[in-house]
Amino acid sequence: MATLKRDRSEGCALVVGVGASRGIGAALCRRFAAGGLHVYAAGRSGKFGEAVEDIRSRGGSITPVIVDTTDARSVQSLFERIDGEGRALELVAYNVGKNTPRSFLTTTPEFLEEVWREGPLGGLLIGREAVRRMLPHRRGTLLYTGASGSLRGKALYGAFASGKAGLRALALGFAQEFGPQGIHVGHVVVDGLVAGERVDRFGYGFGFFFRQTKGRDGALLPDAVAENYWQLHRQPRGAWTHELDLRPYRETY
Ligand SMILES: NC(=O)c1ccc[n+]([C@@H]2O[C@H](COP(=O)([O-])OP(=O)(O)OC[C@H]3O[C@@H](n4cnc5c(N)ncnc54)[C@H](OP(=O)(O)O)[C@@H]3O)[C@@H](O)[C@H]2O)c1
Repeated sequence: MATLKRDRSEGCALVVGVGASRGIGAALCRRFAAGGLHVYAAGRSGKFGEAVEDIRSRGGSITPVIVDTTDARSVQSLFERIDGEGRALELVAYNVGKNTPRSFLTTTPEFLEEVWREGPLGGLLIGREAVRRMLPHRRGTLLYTGASGSLRGKALYGAFASGKAGLRALALGFAQEFGPQGIHVGHVVVDGLVAGERVDRFGYGFGFFFRQTKGRDGALLPDAVAENYWQLHRQPRGAWTHELDLRPYRETY
């Protein structure tokens, strides 16, 4: 495995919504660490332990932090921790969201509310604190992870799509309000299945079906997704992307 660049110390990235090594969150941490930033990897459970160890073992600089982005106090203490360590916050990626299917017949108010709390509410709480720290420097990048549901609902994914569509609208608002002050806000529509833990977890169910129909190349590769986030961060401000859609090359539309 490639060695990661050492921390430049002065700058840091925050990835919110980090889970297993093969997910997008962990891939973002790897890429940002490889770019020389100290990375704060924030997740709700300790699932990211393996990813953190992997990055450290290759010379990357990373701090794991537990956060629940649906809880304003938890978000506040995440940022207080980052503030306390004195690095300039250059890049924040809000990656929280789970693509849980649910029939409208069994969609409870609690389920819908949870989707919204993980989407627009968490996106607001994280985005607001990130921008507060970037504005004095008039630079920084704030990226949101979307999904196919950001653009359209579909059977069983209507509730999920409502949260992702709300997050997308929020991201555009952030871009319009803070772009002119030097903050690059992007929304990435991950328009397809990610070749991560979920595909394998379902084994002879979903994963098998998926491989038979599309093959592994029919899914998005987390490290390739992460490379795009890094390129967004590196874009010169004379030509900024606000929204980027990513899909596997074998997508038939
Ligand atoms: N996987 C796909 O096929 C796919 C496809 C299109 C778009 N996306 C989008 O990609 C993003 C996730 O990427 P991924 O699926 O590869 O997963 P991932 O990055 O491996 O994991 C995301 C992590 O976010 C954490 N999380 C959930 N709610 C949270 C909260 N309130 N506060 C803090 N952390 C929280 C989860 O922790 P817990 O496990 O503890 O809840 C999970 O480990 C989501 O925005 C999703 O909508 C995924």
